[in-house]
Amino acid sequence: MSGPNLDQLGTRSPEIYGRQTLAEHVARFSELAAARGFSVRHLQSNFEGDLIEAVHGANGTAVAIVLNAGALTHSSWALADALGAFDGVKVEVHLSNPAAREPFRHVSTLAGVVNGTIAGFGATSYELAVEAVQRLLATS
Ligand code: DQA
Repeated sequence: MSGPNLDQLGTRSPEIYGRQTLAEHVARFSELAAARGFSVRHLQSNFEGDLIEAVHGANGTAVAIVLNAGALTHSSWALADALGAFDGVKVEVHLSNPAAREPFRHVSTLAGVVNGTIAGFGATSYELAVEAVQRLLATS
């Protein structure tokens, strides 16, 4: 799942987020996931409620959620509550390293309800997330 403004990747602050589009990240992620036997559903939305409803819909229909919530990471207790009620594996992903940026990015409402966070590796963050999901499912 991809939150607000991630549909702008490719042209949005490329010095921070790189030049790859969201479609390119999702294609690579899906390719790696398929090689491990997983199929991927992807939703990008600029609206918090869409993401919350997608989390609700994942309950019982998905084994894992990989989520880059964009700036909702730093503000959305509602998304955190929804994720907290999802009973599968949850991995928070960021292209940049929010801890090394502005103070408002140092807080993640999601950090306490996910299995773990992968941040700061650019496009590789998504690739590492596939690996994390596979390993977490193998041990859960
Ligand atoms: C981001 C980091 C967030 O702080 C920011 O609001 C984003 C992108 C990242 O992938 O680095 O939209 O989640």
